[in-house]
Amino acid sequence: MITIIGSGKVGGDAALFSALKKLDDQILLLDVAKGLPQGEAMDINHMLSEQGIDVEVKGSNDYEDIRGSNIVVVVAGSARKPGMTRMDLLKINASIVKSVTENIKKYADDSMIIPVSNPLDPMAYITQKVSGFDRSRVFGMGGMLDLSRFRQFIHESTGHSRDSIRGLVIGEHGENMLPLPRFSSVSGIPLSSFLPKEKLDEIVVNTKQVAAKVIELKGATVHAPGNAISAIIETVVRDRKQVIPVATYLDGEYGHSDVTIGVPAVIGKNGVEKIIELDLNDEERTMFDKGVANVKDALSGIQI
Ligand code: 2OP
Repeated sequence: MITIIGSGKVGGDAALFSALKKLDDQILLLDVAKGLPQGEAMDINHMLSEQGIDVEVKGSNDYEDIRGSNIVVVVAGSARKPGMTRMDLLKINASIVKSVTENIKKYADDSMIIPVSNPLDPMAYITQKVSGFDRSRVFGMGGMLDLSRFRQFIHESTGHSRDSIRGLVIGEHGENMLPLPRFSSVSGIPLSSFLPKEKLDEIVVNTKQVAAKVIELKGATVHAPGNAISAIIETVVRDRKQVIPVATYLDGEYGHSDVTIGVPAVIGKNGVEKIIELDLNDEERTMFDKGVANVKDALSGIQI
């Protein structure tokens, strides 16, 4: 069973995409708000009925119902509003994520947890510490979403099929996000063969800022995060061993320890099966390190 804790728009979309991809026979939506997960589940089931898809979506307000979950996605918490940075949510979401994780530990201690609430990297750290799970079983969704935006900008700039575009975005899911043109390509051909440096720089800046733009225009980001969650679940349940960026706990990798931040990792049925260390140049390394410092600084003010 896949459980999604937090049944707002992103949680609902994650359930919807996971059901359409048939990632499990059962999907549970859980929320403290009475009626919300039940209503969302009904709405999705009605859609699945027309499509002839036998995935059952349930809604619940009771943590006991998460028993038996293989994967638990945590979207619970406040969302970013226009004008806010992800870090503005730190205090309020830290206590929510802590209590959610305590319940996961109590009722689904064999599961893997995918934290999504913002600020993502500190929340993934808190989840890992509070659960006490092996680090391979806690991996936050942030880089995958940033990557989908990076790929879209490359698609718009080159005109080439989205399907042929490969890339990486690592580091903090926040102000120090690190899109990596040097590790990106169109069908294996380096991006620098298609776009001049100024254009690549512009794409990097746009990738960092575009979530704020969407929030300003429509109030929230919904479909891209919902889909990115289902993409990570898919690589786990189908044991695809895709190399994707996830926020995972570092223990010496990239020269850092006791911090959680986005890095490329092999994701399969055992969760994070391997962290891949890239040979970053000075400029990339500086941005990565700034992200680590920012996440550590945020965590230093939180009682875990
Ligand atoms: C996003 O990047 C707000 O973190 C959220 O869509």
